[in-house]
Amino acid sequence: MKLRTIDNLDVRGKYVLLRDDFNVQIVDGKITDAFRIEQSMPTINALKNAGARIAIVAHLGRPKGVRSMEYSLAPVAEYMHIPLIPNCLDKDFLPKMKDGDVVLLENVRFYDGEEKNDSDFAKKLADGFDLFVNDAFAVSHRAHASTVGVTEFLPSYAGKLLASEIEQLSAVMENPKRPLVAIVGGSKVSTKIGVLKSLAHLADKLIIGGALGTTFNYATGANVGNSLYEPDQKDIALEILEYGRENGCEILIPLDKGVAPEFSRDAKRTDKTFDEITDTDVILDAGALTTARDVGVIKSAASVIWNGTVGMAEWEPTWSVGSFALARAIAEETRNGKLTSVVGGGDTVAALEACGVKDDISYVSTGGGAFLEFIEGRNLPGISVLSE
Ligand code: 3PG
Repeated sequence: MKLRTIDNLDVRGKYVLLRDDFNVQIVDGKITDAFRIEQSMPTINALKNAGARIAIVAHLGRPKGVRSMEYSLAPVAEYMHIPLIPNCLDKDFLPKMKDGDVVLLENVRFYDGEEKNDSDFAKKLADGFDLFVNDAFAVSHRAHASTVGVTEFLPSYAGKLLASEIEQLSAVMENPKRPLVAIVGGSKVSTKIGVLKSLAHLADKLIIGGALGTTFNYATGANVGNSLYEPDQKDIALEILEYGRENGCEILIPLDKGVAPEFSRDAKRTDKTFDEITDTDVILDAGALTTARDVGVIKSAASVIWNGTVGMAEWEPTWSVGSFALARAIAEETRNGKLTSVVGGGDTVAALEACGVKDDISYVSTGGGAFLEFIEGRNLPGISVLSE
């Protein structure tokens, strides 16, 4: 897909409405992971240096059309050292702006017109601007007023981050170096059916882990104890395994698990194969056999796509063992030039960060849901409207 980009665009003195995804984690008013903000800076700086007058529109969380200060973007404005305009429909600040100025508009989801993609709301949001730039790949799977609606009223372009996400993800989808290994973890089969089917078609091997993998173990008759899994997804899991066989993709499900007597970070870990798991065991991580097999598969790959951790990676050090081993193996192979690696999804990127290997990965996407939908091959509405 060819996008209209901001390259060669004359923006000096122009009022630019810039959509960024600043949906970051904030704890006690402080940003705990600024990855999305940092990745947005090249476009902000390019527009700023070219003399544009920039108002950034963004969302935080799901306030559902209600102005609620727990969802305020104030910590982001503070982090970026830019003024926050308390109401995203306020235009009084525009005449006071000088070339290169940047402001942040308060959470656009304080209005219910945003998620409804209401045309009147989009028109009001666009009012006073000369052009629209979407750099928010991570929210481009939502047809909202600030991703799609405003494009009816303003000439619209893709920012650098959005363009690079599409380029990098398209490269691994369209022309991957093979063998291509996909790793999908996380909690729910039901939210990843599309992406699992798409990867079972595209990849040479598909490793399924996490609670999602537990559902596959259950579907194939294993005892999964008192663990998190989705019994109602049994038929879908079997269908995906069959789909893999039909498409020549080897699907690898867990061989063993790290289990605890209770769902607790501090619980004692034992690694068990499925015939050893009892009805009271709680699965919290991939087991040692599974991890060793998966690291071997990674070492034989030329490309890896990874979304979703294979255990409670945030419960370090006991339950992060499986996810961190995969992260380290992917990073090492990439560092040694043997692997092209693409990773997406908040928890997975947090795991890379926690074991200090994020910078070794070939491409780390800012997208969560958008990453999955893109890999699934779906049309992302916020991107379609920017195509030439
Ligand atoms: C994300 O964090 O994945 C995006 O910002 C989209 O957020 P949403 O799922 O609340 O629309």
